[in-house]
Amino acid sequence: MNETAQEYTAIKLIARPTGGPITDELFDIVTLARPALAQGELLVQQTHMSLDPAMFGWMSPDTESYIPPVALGDVMRSSGIGKVIESKHPDFQVGDRVMGLLGWTEMLKTDGQGLNKVQNDLPDEAVLSIFALPGMTATQGLFEVGKPKAGETIVVSGAAGSVGSIVGQLAKADGLNVIGVVGSDEKAEWITNELGFDGAINYKTDDLDAKLAALAPKGVDVYFENTGGPIQHAVFNRMNAHGRIAVCGLIADYAKAVPDLGPNWIQVIKKRLTIQGFTMPDHYGDIPALLAKLTPYVMQGKIKYRAHVLEGLPAAISGLNLFFTGGNQGKLMVKL
Ligand SMILES: NC(=O)c1ccc[n+]([C@@H]2O[C@H](COP(=O)([O-])OP(=O)(O)OC[C@H]3O[C@@H](n4cnc5c(N)ncnc54)[C@H](OP(=O)(O)O)[C@@H]3O)[C@@H](O)[C@H]2O)c1
Repeated sequence: MNETAQEYTAIKLIARPTGGPITDELFDIVTLARPALAQGELLVQQTHMSLDPAMFGWMSPDTESYIPPVALGDVMRSSGIGKVIESKHPDFQVGDRVMGLLGWTEMLKTDGQGLNKVQNDLPDEAVLSIFALPGMTATQGLFEVGKPKAGETIVVSGAAGSVGSIVGQLAKADGLNVIGVVGSDEKAEWITNELGFDGAINYKTDDLDAKLAALAPKGVDVYFENTGGPIQHAVFNRMNAHGRIAVCGLIADYAKAVPDLGPNWIQVIKKRLTIQGFTMPDHYGDIPALLAKLTPYVMQGKIKYRAHVLEGLPAAISGLNLFFTGGNQGKLMVKL
């Protein structure tokens, strides 16, 4: 779509998933007319849109979560990056690069609330992969919840994913023994050979207890939990006294009607464990501090990423399934 286009595409959520793969029937792909602007408004053309596992929660009917679900008939929620193509807003000029909750749409009319200007000239892919949700989540969860110390051992599940890969690299840079849990040998090789993890466990093929014992002979001090599944029990049983567990995500349970049973709490007492869940909407006010913490690691070349880029808005629908199959290699996003 070019910036003078008089029509654009958006995708609305019209039904809620009931388990199984995400299909076209849940969505309505609509063509809309370019909106006229009132004073104080601006028009954004989205260039790259982030896909995130959180979307499964936003599509569910659950009203008890940290953020309300997307209402049926509304444009599906997502964060993204774009450029201002028209403005009647004093703080935004045509050509500004902006980020925010833009939604599954090629264009968005907004009053600018919740929109942030992108102040660097890094490519969209790098911004979404590092300086957006993945990097902020990794930094918050690792440092504020995991409280890592040099010489300790950390296990990161979902380790080749957008959040897990940054967590592991930050921990490595700070002198920890870093073990990543992944679902393929290709991902195991990437995190050890390219990202510098000390070891990898393939949760689909390895003997989990034996591999963990070999890679963490002194036990586990920090567990950064992105997935749940059987690895959770294996790691829990090897936690050291005063260990910390940062519960970031449980993707193994997102599509299950009945989640897996968690480990027994007796270890929490015996090992005096701290287990803390966190979600980033609680920390939007901390973004400047999180950026200040993360940026030096990036500037020193210690954070690598890979972006998995799908083409065109409708690709978002089937693309969501890659999170469950493990088909995404790095930060999943759609180029518009
Ligand atoms: N708390 C927060 O505010 C926050 C913010 C962002 C993300 N998150 C959570 O963090 C986690 C990672 O998010 P992300 O964006 O970085 O996604 P991601 O790791 O890039 O993609 C998800 C990965 O999960 C793995 N996976 C899927 N099903 C699994 C299963 N049954 N058991 C084990 N692993 C499985 C797959 O990798 P393999 O090939 O290795 O299986 C898949 O590639 C998600 O749970 C997400 O909900 C939380």
